Amino acid sequence: MKLFIDSANLDEVRELAWLVDGVTTNPSLVAREKVPFEETIARLCELVDGPVSAEVMSLVADEMVREARPLARIHKNVVIKVPMTEQGMKAVRTLSSEGIRTNVTLVFSANQALVAAKCGASYVSPFVGRVDDVGGGGMDLISDILDVFQNYVFPTEIIVASVRHPRHVFEAASLGADIATVPHAVLKQLFRHPLTDVGVERFLKDWQAAQA
Ligand code: E4P
Repeated sequence: MKLFIDSANLDEVRELAWLVDGVTTNPSLVAREKVPFEETIARLCELVDGPVSAEVMSLVADEMVREARPLARIHKNVVIKVPMTEQGMKAVRTLSSEGIRTNVTLVFSANQALVAAKCGASYVSPFVGRVDDVGGGGMDLISDILDVFQNYVFPTEIIVASVRHPRHVFEAASLGADIATVPHAVLKQLFRHPLTDVGVERFLKDWQAAQA
């Protein structure tokens, strides 16, 4: 499974650029950083050699496409993030016909993922954390989408998004999702286990005692 970092913070991405396979941003993450949007996307592309998602803000297909084209020209790795709406899917169809890759975001059902894939989306982003937040089963959604996609030959990859904790990452990998996009803090947690810390400390202590 590929690991993306879900962040628009350049320091966070720089620190883990050696680990990750791509970057996703969203309007909330970009707004937090106070760096112009296009500059953020260009710098993220310099830091990570993989897909970098940049979201369009228009709600009408033609305007989404007009917004997307210059973003796609920033760097070959830019992927246009489009919301899962009827207008969004019209835009995905057009962008896909122009060879511009898309990431369909705010996916909350397997049918939405199916429609996005049929429209030519390169990626779909089901939001597991937000489903869990309202008492649903975020990972059941991933399982449903995988079931549907396994029946056909869509090239569309599934990005497990809205990841909140390491368990989400494990479950995404266990189900066989293509990608998990993970916040910086959760990526850092993936390295850690208390028994590893205890073990490292004990080996060091024993080694040093033998040198004395
Ligand atoms: C994914 O592409 C989104 O940017 C992100 O995962 C949303 O996460 P949130 O639900 O924690 O805001």
